[in-house]
Amino acid sequence: MKRRDFLKYSLNVLIALNFGCSLKGLVGEGEKVALIYGTKYGSTRDTAAWIQEGLEGNAALMNVEEMDFGETVSRYDSFIAGSGVWIDGIHKKLKEFLKSHSTQLQERVLGSFVVCGSQDTTEGGRKRIGGYLRQISSPLGYQPAAKRFFGGRIIVEQLTDSDREALETFYSKFLNQELHSWDRTDKYKAVKYGKELEQVIEKYSVRT
Ligand SMILES: Cc1cc2nc3c(=O)[nH]c(=O)nc-3n(C[C@H](O)[C@H](O)[C@H](O)COP(=O)(O)O)c2cc1C
Repeated sequence: MKRRDFLKYSLNVLIALNFGCSLKGLVGEGEKVALIYGTKYGSTRDTAAWIQEGLEGNAALMNVEEMDFGETVSRYDSFIAGSGVWIDGIHKKLKEFLKSHSTQLQERVLGSFVVCGSQDTTEGGRKRIGGYLRQISSPLGYQPAAKRFFGGRIIVEQLTDSDREALETFYSKFLNQELHSWDRTDKYKAVKYGKELEQVIEKYSVRT
C-alpha cells in the first residue's frame, strides 16, 4: 500500500471507530489489482479471466503485450502475474516487465501462476513446474504469497508451422507419441485460486 493510501486508510479507520462502525468493508477497499498475463494461443488468457471471476471482478485483466509498464506500476497497488510456457520459458515480455521494474514491485506481486503442459503427478513434472514459477519469482527476488500451476491446451491446427514442427519432434523423440490436441484447462481450479487471492489481498491490506 502506498503512503498516501495508507494515510487515507488510517483516517477511514479513525472515522469508523469514532462513529462506532465495523471495520469490515474498509479492509482492502480501494486496493487496485492488476492481473497481468502472457499468452500465445489463449489458454493463459482464459485462465486469467477465470481467476478474475474468482476475484469477483476486483482486478484489471492486462495482456503483458499491450500494457505500458511504467503506467501499470504507478496505477495499481498489487499485482498477479501469470504466463504460459513455451520451450521451457515463460513470456519474454513478462520477464522483461518483472526485471525492469523489480524495485517498484517489491512485495507488491501477491500471486504468480503458470499454464503449461507439465503435470504435477511425477517428481520430474513438479520440478519443471517449480522451475517455471521461479522464472517469475527470480527477477523479483521474492516469492509471491500465492503460487499456482494450471493445465493448458494445445490445438494442433492453431500452431504456427515452427511450433508444430518443434512439438512434433518433442512428441516423437521424448513421448514416443504423435502430436495431438489436448485441453487440460480448469475453470474450477482457476476460480478457486481467484477466491484465495482475494483473501491474500485483504490480508496484505490489513498488514501494511
Ligand atoms: C511450442 C510450444 C512449446 C511448449 N513447451 C512447453 C514446455 O517446455 N513445457 C511445458 O510444460 N509446456 C509446454 N508447452 C505447453 C504450453 O505451455 C501450453 O500449451 C499452454 O497452454 C500454452 O499457453 P497459451 O495457450 O496461453 O499460449 C508448449 C506449447 C507449445 C505450443
